[in-house]
Amino acid sequence: MKRSLVRVAILGATGAVGQRFVQLLSGHPWFRITVLAASERSTGKSYAEACNWVLETPMPDEVKEMLVVPAEPGFDADVIFSALPADLAREIEPKFAEAGYPVFSNASAFRYEPDVPLVITEINPDHMKLIEVQRRNRGWKGFIVTNANCSTTHLTLALKPLHDPFGLDPVFVSTMQAVSGAGYPGVPSIDILGNVIPYIGKEEWKLETEPLKILGTLVGDKVENAHFAISAHANRVPVKDGHTEAVSVRLRRKPSLEELKEALREFRGEPQEMGLPSAPTRPVIVREEPDRPQPRFDLMAENGMATVVGRVRECSILDYKFVLLGHNTIRGAAGGSILNAEWAFTKGLL
Ligand SMILES: NC(=O)c1ccc[n+]([C@@H]2O[C@H](COP(=O)([O-])OP(=O)(O)OC[C@H]3O[C@@H](n4cnc5c(N)ncnc54)[C@H](OP(=O)(O)O)[C@@H]3O)[C@@H](O)[C@H]2O)c1
Repeated sequence: MKRSLVRVAILGATGAVGQRFVQLLSGHPWFRITVLAASERSTGKSYAEACNWVLETPMPDEVKEMLVVPAEPGFDADVIFSALPADLAREIEPKFAEAGYPVFSNASAFRYEPDVPLVITEINPDHMKLIEVQRRNRGWKGFIVTNANCSTTHLTLALKPLHDPFGLDPVFVSTMQAVSGAGYPGVPSIDILGNVIPYIGKEEWKLETEPLKILGTLVGDKVENAHFAISAHANRVPVKDGHTEAVSVRLRRKPSLEELKEALREFRGEPQEMGLPSAPTRPVIVREEPDRPQPRFDLMAENGMATVVGRVRECSILDYKFVLLGHNTIRGAAGGSILNAEWAFTKGLL
């Protein structure tokens, strides 16, 4: 297999997630950015001119002079990464799929459609089989694969190692989500500094819905959702990057505390077996200190691709409770999408 020169386009390249794509794809061993697309505001400008770069590493030299183009098919690209707002994704992504492009989307627009895979690569890569169903149903030459909402991704990475051996029911989660989760410029500073906002539109519904599809079982042409109840509270807090989540779980078979931690620590999936370039060595990290994880110290564990769990302890209402932390624009968005595309490339789907 020739593992070079897969040409990739980024839709929404100037936004919070688009910039992460640019950062993570710069120097990628298999993928090379050939197209950067955004709104009318940006098109015709160089990427350096159009983009207010807010990441901690410098804008890669190779994209600075690239001209930003409209998000319309006809690209010199083999794969599309989409970081479009959901309403636009609903309209624009099918045009690319119809025109024959594989689209890896961060938007919620198609996540809940029965023939669209909603994939966390370590958990349910088998759901990629829905691509065939989607092509058959819609007559597309290309396809759309979605990754989960940012807080859902980290919650589900921590639930998977528990659900398989012990069986979850129910799950309670309360999130403390970073401002970058709202895109750029996102939440106005005057609204969030020194404050907590106990509402993020549709987030609680996503947290209560998406894990059930991801942990569901592919039966024939359909995913049968996992059956357990999830109750979610979503809060916005004045943290730049990294979503923290306080989770309580009841298990159908209650393990010992050590067994539970061992299940989390030992969790691995296909990306680790296949040695995919963006795969974390350990998708779930368990910390033993009483005051970790913290965004300031643990956000970049495994290059931002791991879910860091800590404070695993008995719960006086359910069985166990713990805190988790994950990077919202890396594992929770661009990095998760790239890992899905690496898996698909290795399987000959691109
Ligand atoms: N932020 C996160 O942590 C996160 C995590 C997971 C998933 N997501 C999802 O990822 C998607 C992108 O989120 P974001 O946070 O990156 O948003 P964002 O910072 O607001 O960026 C939106 C991007 O879309 C572009 N855009 C807007 N209108 C367009 C149009 N008509 N045609 C083409 N491009 C257009 C913008 O370009 P201009 O700069 O030219 O306006 C910008 O590049 C959303 O669906 C979001 O829900 C975000």
